[in-house]
Amino acid sequence: MINTHSNDISRAVGILRAGGLVAIPTETVYGLAADASHPEAIQKIFHAKQRPMTHPLIVHIGDISQLSDWAINISSEALLLARSFWPGPLTLILKKAPQVHSLVTGGQETIGLRIPNHPLALAVLKQLGQGIAAPSANRFGRISPTTAEAVREELGEAVDYVLDGGQCDVGVESTIVDMSSHPPMILRPGMITTTQIEQVLQMTLASQKKNTPRVSGSMESHYAPTTNTELMSTNDLKIFLNTPHEDIAFIIWSDLNNINVNQKNLKSISKNPRLYAHDLYQTMRELDKKNLKKIIIEKVPETSEWAAIIDRLQRATK
Ligand code: TXA
Ligand code: MG
Repeated sequence: MINTHSNDISRAVGILRAGGLVAIPTETVYGLAADASHPEAIQKIFHAKQRPMTHPLIVHIGDISQLSDWAINISSEALLLARSFWPGPLTLILKKAPQVHSLVTGGQETIGLRIPNHPLALAVLKQLGQGIAAPSANRFGRISPTTAEAVREELGEAVDYVLDGGQCDVGVESTIVDMSSHPPMILRPGMITTTQIEQVLQMTLASQKKNTPRVSGSMESHYAPTTNTELMSTNDLKIFLNTPHEDIAFIIWSDLNNINVNQKNLKSISKNPRLYAHDLYQTMRELDKKNLKKIIIEKVPETSEWAAIIDRLQRATK
């Protein structure tokens, strides 16, 4: 097999320049990257992901100075967030600049932008000197990949090259905040919390509308394993785990100290939300491969640090 799975920055950049697709690691999840100024390359993203053309893409840039290549009417609040959280897991929705191709924005007047915090992504952006359009590198509606192997499983030969940057640090997709209206509004929760954003802006954000149609990440069934997946309270699990379940997988975070029955497919992940987020998708992906009857996930605490995780768990179990 040809070597399509390493960390050759120049090769990645060469493929992007030629209008190809490269999977790149970011701190959140792997992205399926194309040169954002190359319409034919962008088309390939939609084809590879089997994603509807109306779903806009996030453009990744290497430096704040490139914001004005893609967006106009950039408010001081938007700049403040960019300076506070970039490079990092925050996407800003801004009014698009007139020259931005409508394929990137799904025909909308706004555009999503962020600077990712991963050395390989930043190296590619620097060498390419262009914005990179990159949705998560999964097939439409499926779990986002957090390793290079997971990208291959999702997209196979549809991606020309996979840049391997190891397992993603954050593990769930960026927080998306709409800065094109006032007050700003969270469209997708992420590990940068509403509270952190409100603290920086010194204002209260608008409350989130349910099911904003154009945000695919806000569709109810998304980030979902193929195996039937459901949530269960800690108390119900305590009872349920007293009998062995060969054909059910469990993802738990609390101690559940009284488990004395051996469960074949029980995965325990951290009670720290950051570490939990880091492991969640990879754990769901591993368990999904076992073709079991069901995956049962322990409900998590309902505090703001868990908001992104609660959101993804709800979508995975719809
Ligand atoms: O962490 C992330 O954001 C990852 C990494 C690769 O950067 N990317 C990612 O992209 O999650 P994607 O396409 O899987 O999810 C981006 C979400 C989609 O739900 C899309 O509809 C929404 O962002 N989005 C993009 N542009 C938008 C816009 N102009 N207005 C509203 N939503 C937008
Ligand atoms: Mg996605």
